[in-house]
Amino acid sequence: MASNEIPAQDFNPLNSIEQWEDDVIERYPEAGEPAKAKAEFRNYTDSAKEASVREFYRLNHKYQTYEFVREKENDFLRFNRKELKPWDAMEFLNTLVDDSDPDTDLDQLQHLLQTAEAIRADGHPDWFVLTGFIHDMGKVLCLFGEPQWGVVGDTFPMGCAFSDKIVYSEAFEANPDTYDSRYNTKYGVYEPNCGLKNVHMSWGHDEYIYQIMKDYLPEEALYMLRYHSFYSQHREHAYEHLMDDHDREMFKWVDKFNPYDLYSKSPKPPVVSELKPYYEALIAKYLPETIKL
Ligand SMILES: [Fe+2]
Ligand SMILES: [Fe+2]
Repeated sequence: MASNEIPAQDFNPLNSIEQWEDDVIERYPEAGEPAKAKAEFRNYTDSAKEASVREFYRLNHKYQTYEFVREKENDFLRFNRKELKPWDAMEFLNTLVDDSDPDTDLDQLQHLLQTAEAIRADGHPDWFVLTGFIHDMGKVLCLFGEPQWGVVGDTFPMGCAFSDKIVYSEAFEANPDTYDSRYNTKYGVYEPNCGLKNVHMSWGHDEYIYQIMKDYLPEEALYMLRYHSFYSQHREHAYEHLMDDHDREMFKWVDKFNPYDLYSKSPKPPVVSELKPYYEALIAKYLPETIKL
């Protein structure tokens, strides 16, 4: 199904995109550990919030097809929507307030600053701090009218069989690629251990920010950006058969990044005006004057 045929009611099942992240934290309460037992995870009660998270995964798994992903790549990777200074792009992201979720108290910029500040406090290199700061900038896709399940959600390889380690994998029954012999075998369109550089991931904010930043940051940073929502690999190791040795080396950095994304909750929210000079200097060191979205 082409994306312009998706019914309007299937766009935004969540009250806020943070509901997906809250659900990831519930699934992975401990750094580096695999998911809680599936039976437990699937034991959704009837709260409206849980129903909307379940609906979110259902739609994500139904609509993320190889064709959908290629269509989004061909459209968004032309970067013809906006050209902004990096800080202004962050402020643009921060106009994304879709929130009627009482549990979410931080805005986008505060989540990013909190992640980055936790990385900085641990004495990591400055490019790692900058990576923390920009890692969710790709969520501007929401502001370009993209459906929530095409912006956030666990990411996974397209064009080959969906792993049963992907959250709520039963929902792939509704995905046409499940029945397409080009895409439904273990390797699908790929060769064994071809390396993730050859693999098309499901479309979302991770791939988009990677593509925006790919000329400006060290490779370790680019792996963190591109694969930070690829939980079925970095927590469950479900796609070893597509990874090469270089990916495995680089995924040490993805693993290092993940706890900062999920678990850095500072007691007081970061104050943007106090931190802005430091982050403006980091941006000036690594990024061009303007970036294209
Ligand atoms: Fe993210
Ligand atoms: Fe994040």
